[in-house]
Amino acid sequence: MIDMIEIKGHLEVEDNRLHVGGVPCTEIADEFGTPTYVYNTDRVLENYRRLRDGLEANADREIVVYYAVKANFNPAILTALAGEGAYADVLSVHEAEFALRTGFPRERIMYTGTSVTDETMEHLLEKGILINIDSFSQMRRLARIAPDGLEVSVRWNPGEGAGFDPKVITAGARSHGRPVKFGIEEGKVLDLCREALELGLRPVGLHQHIGSGWTGDDVDRFLDTVALTLGMAERMADLLGHDLRQVDFGGGPGIPYRPEQEEFPIERYCKGICQQVADSALGIERICVESGRYIVGDAGVLLTRANTVEEKSGCTIVGVDAGFNTLLRPAFYGEYVGDMYREAYHEIVDASRVEGSRDHCTVAGPLCETGDLLAIDRWMTRPEEGDILAILGAGAYGYSMASVYNLQPRPAEVVVPAGKLVTRREDMESLTQNYQEGSL
Ligand code: LLP
Repeated sequence: MIDMIEIKGHLEVEDNRLHVGGVPCTEIADEFGTPTYVYNTDRVLENYRRLRDGLEANADREIVVYYAVKANFNPAILTALAGEGAYADVLSVHEAEFALRTGFPRERIMYTGTSVTDETMEHLLEKGILINIDSFSQMRRLARIAPDGLEVSVRWNPGEGAGFDPKVITAGARSHGRPVKFGIEEGKVLDLCREALELGLRPVGLHQHIGSGWTGDDVDRFLDTVALTLGMAERMADLLGHDLRQVDFGGGPGIPYRPEQEEFPIERYCKGICQQVADSALGIERICVESGRYIVGDAGVLLTRANTVEEKSGCTIVGVDAGFNTLLRPAFYGEYVGDMYREAYHEIVDASRVEGSRDHCTVAGPLCETGDLLAIDRWMTRPEEGDILAILGAGAYGYSMASVYNLQPRPAEVVVPAGKLVTRREDMESLTQNYQEGSL
């Protein structure tokens, strides 16, 4: 239990109120309503540069940092990252379109999808976007519509995964019992390459992504997979008769969600990758990674207003206007410690009174499900009704996983320091626009 609330990174407390990007959260909430996601674009760029510079400082060849658009597709964030020279990793036609429209040239976009349709591949071909092959089926269907000699990259499964929750471990045969659907297993990669050549495709890249949201404890395991991937790149080079152009080690570096968690050891991660590439005999031109959470995760907060504070069956229930429709992570991910379930953690700060009298609070959303809880029995400042709560670490997989469950409109999105509304809160008009006339 901590007794002082520790505010880190780009957040500040002034007059006992929380500020993000220099702006008081309460002011943003008053101006734009709640729930509202707020992103600090300066912090996004800082995170991106720390990762890119960390790799560049250790590398003896070109570095490419793809931003995993799935983490947050807000156009202001995409525009800022494109302007900074970032590349984009996309997994749908519409992510590709968002990236193109916000200034990522097609040569800086890569598609890594799964269960890929012909229509998606047609679209990507038309736009000239590099495609990662995730299955034999995808490769064969792509070869039917691709021009001869099309360059492709291959996603393989290095057999060992890591991630903060079984649902986001993406390598190995199974993740805690769940079959892993991604990539080509070790014994089949060279067969796939041979067949790709016969079909007129040209493998130029190798790709891995072992899972998401790792901590420092996972870095060694990740670095073991880097060695495996470089070994596979060597075997592919032998088969092809030339080196691959790029090897992509995926995303995954996490952020500290809990106050006691440490920063991700970015230096050890960057050094470890670059050292192994340098030590290999490979002539690959580019070292690639594709991070989402590390770049945007701590740059975003979700503002929600407390409307109800009362005791129910001995628990303090703090009712707020954001539920798992707005931020899915605590309801969707979690872990058992013994027989106690712990929801995926997000720090919650009372932005209206950062320090105040404490209580064990259960922060509950407006949805009709018992699991609609953002925090369970959390020792925190006991909010007053009307207070603005800031849910920290909400920049990654927040808005991008939001839904309109219970017909709760999706929230607004604001960027600071500009203090600008980027995404309007959904309303009756946007919720009804897809229905045929006369049906509603
Ligand atoms: N590349 C690929 C192929 C991916 O599937 C992902 C994430 C990334 C890169 C970026 O991973 P990151 O650097 O953000 O860890 N919804 C979950 C996370 C799911 C991640 C899915 N794939 C969450 O809320 O934590």
